[in-house]
Amino acid sequence: MKQNLAQKNHFSGPETEVQKYGTVVNRPLSLDHKVRLASVGNLNQILADTMTLRDMYKKHHWQVSGPTFYQLHLLFDKHFGEQAEIVDMLAERVQTLGGVAIAMSHDVAETTRISRPPRSSEDASVQLFRLLQAHELIIDETREAARSAGEIGDAGTNDLLVSDVLRVNELQVWFVSQQIAGSGIGGTEEEAGRSTPKLTLQATV
Ligand SMILES: [Fe+2]
Repeated sequence: MKQNLAQKNHFSGPETEVQKYGTVVNRPLSLDHKVRLASVGNLNQILADTMTLRDMYKKHHWQVSGPTFYQLHLLFDKHFGEQAEIVDMLAERVQTLGGVAIAMSHDVAETTRISRPPRSSEDASVQLFRLLQAHELIIDETREAARSAGEIGDAGTNDLLVSDVLRVNELQVWFVSQQIAGSGIGGTEEEAGRSTPKLTLQATV
């Protein structure tokens, strides 16, 4: 029986591992092991969700249709590129802290908190709604992780999360939500006064 390449070359199993996922190695950063472990855990969650949002932008870039096709096709790809930059920054922060960055789509799918969209294409208004929902989830967890990193003394992670992750996500939410302003999707004017407005799916999926 023919062996596949992985079996033949033993490219699987613990013997190939240099460092276990979920562990952190020492770095002379003057940050406790516990602090780096906590930051790495939060960063990997945000990384998995950001990779999912990045890929959702590409899905929607390809599959968008309707009278706003061209502007959304371009906007989605611009945001995809910006999310791809965030992915790299988050992953390299994990490695900087001595951790192992989550990387492969199989692992990302098991880790992300963003709900899975169908393989089929959807109406542009539903695409926009899904993007806003994913952004809000990432914004929530990023604020929480930034606050926690600040409290435990990891100023570098706090700065990355606030300056690069939070601000870009907030700006993208503005651009995406303006596309559906007045459409009744993704919140109403009455909700604007709530302290933490949450999106609800009003469009037919
Ligand atoms: Fe393209």
